[in-house]
Amino acid sequence: MVMNIFSKANHEKTGLGLLAVSPPLYILLTFGVVAPFGKHSSNKWGPCINAKLAWFLFECPNLIWSVYAYLTRDEYVFSSSPANCILLSLFCIHYINRAVIYPMRISEASQPVNLAVLTSAISFCTVNGYLQGLEYCQFRVYSKNYISSPKFIIGCILRCTGFVLNLQADSILRRLRNTPPKAQYKIPNGGLFRYTSCANFSGEIIEWFGYALASNSLSGWAFFAWVCANLIPRGVSHHKWYLDKFEDYPKDRWAVIPFIV
Ligand SMILES: NC(=O)c1ccc[n+]([C@@H]2O[C@H](COP(=O)([O-])OP(=O)(O)OC[C@H]3O[C@@H](n4cnc5c(N)ncnc54)[C@H](OP(=O)(O)O)[C@@H]3O)[C@@H](O)[C@H]2O)c1
Repeated sequence: MVMNIFSKANHEKTGLGLLAVSPPLYILLTFGVVAPFGKHSSNKWGPCINAKLAWFLFECPNLIWSVYAYLTRDEYVFSSSPANCILLSLFCIHYINRAVIYPMRISEASQPVNLAVLTSAISFCTVNGYLQGLEYCQFRVYSKNYISSPKFIIGCILRCTGFVLNLQADSILRRLRNTPPKAQYKIPNGGLFRYTSCANFSGEIIEWFGYALASNSLSGWAFFAWVCANLIPRGVSHHKWYLDKFEDYPKDRWAVIPFIV
């Protein structure tokens, strides 16, 4: 029997599946392996490809699914509320940056990405693009006045604030990477780096928390859980790496979320 991935039941099962794999992923990345890319890259995990191409390839499925979902949308569902269009747009804006603009601007000196990271990231983005795209174009019917609810308004504000903080942190890191000696890591400063070692991850976590809140859907919360399971252990590894590498590293910084981790 062939599974119909476009049925509501299977879409929901996929959301539950993503939610269910997030805690084991968190445990694995905290106590098992450090995700082998960037500062922790290793060639033990297969051949490596250029970082620009890798970022484009693995983030692309999010955009492909979003365009496909929009073109094949159920007009009744998609027009039920402006929230459908706003949430899909917020998701796409992030991934236009991450799949197209970020790889174009990332430094040539960035570490290449190995095959294991590439395939796991493509798999995740394929599942997540499907979840988010179909949520708003096929399944989710919001009430007409949902966009004036506090949940939606606060969620959208957090989503946009996190996005701006993430962009700011990405650009601070890009400047550092492009400052000679280009291959050398330096201590980042400014923006949220005053408080955390991984301001880019802090911004991204705020962004997807806001999005999940505004979306008020299993797909949104499953995505947020996965982001935390992935970025918190990576942020903790980066934080320890900075403390080991630089004697003068500011001791009052948190890893990713002030007062928590
Ligand atoms: N939604 C998600 O689940 C998810 C998952 C992963 C990443 N992301 C996002 O994607 C973006 C990149 O993630 P990432 O894990 O690659 O971030 P990262 O490890 O902080 O690296 C980002 C870039 O900055 C460079 N860099 C980092 N620290 C540096 C330093 N101290 N000095 C000089 N250059 C430095 C890196 O070079 P090297 O490559 O040479 O280290 C890389 O080009 C972030 O905005 C992150 O939030 C999101």
